Amino acid sequence: MRIPFIAGNWKMYKTIAQARAFADEFKNLYHDTDVKTAIFAPYTQLETLVEAFKGSGIGVGAQNVHFAKEGAYTGEVSVAMLEEIGVDYCLVGHSERRQYFAETDESVNLKLKALLESKILPVVCVGENLEEREAGKEEVIVSGQIRADFDGICEADAEKIVVAYEPVWAIGTGKTATPEQANQMCKCIRETLADIYDEETADKIIIQYGGSVKPENATEIMNMEEIDGALVGGASLEPLKFIEIINF
Ligand code: PGA
Repeated sequence: MRIPFIAGNWKMYKTIAQARAFADEFKNLYHDTDVKTAIFAPYTQLETLVEAFKGSGIGVGAQNVHFAKEGAYTGEVSVAMLEEIGVDYCLVGHSERRQYFAETDESVNLKLKALLESKILPVVCVGENLEEREAGKEEVIVSGQIRADFDGICEADAEKIVVAYEPVWAIGTGKTATPEQANQMCKCIRETLADIYDEETADKIIIQYGGSVKPENATEIMNMEEIDGALVGGASLEPLKFIEIINF
């Protein structure tokens, strides 16, 4: 049984004070249901959110991490530093990081391996861009990302990873993939995982859809067979909108 997991990705939004205000409101709205949730926030807000959500069942995640244990990497943050704060999750390979910060499947793979040595659960993002979709290459691109990102990761570790399918052309654009398109790609990801590992392992892995998920389309998306959750950007910034999505 895969437990639905709906997470918010705040990107580079909110100050600490704004994060605290969100947490106060959101805690009152969220009732531990059979849907798991978490907020992926900028580094500066993580400690505040961990403290605010303690005992509420709401998870907290970082949006990036470096793969090295420590070193001369100005501006970076290590897995141990995140562990010290007490975060539950970490995003890896979000398309904005791949697009603007030179994230590659190689660095994604190293980051996944570094996180898997800790208690922090990785959420790895994959997805094709518009050009690739228009050329009909979306399945080749995404299954290639999955193979490269999971390279050398054992079965027991693979089960801990959450995959977020996020077509680049649907992120922040208001254009959502149709539920059928999203379902087909999540199916393709699960088949790729079954090919790398086996069906039993692939069946345990949570696969989210992300890209302009909002209260108006959440039910349709969440009702698709292969989709186990959502990664929500813009609509996770407002407590009322985000809770509506969780209570789809
Ligand atoms: P969006 O972002 O919901 O604003 O499209 C999704 C994401 O980037 O994770």
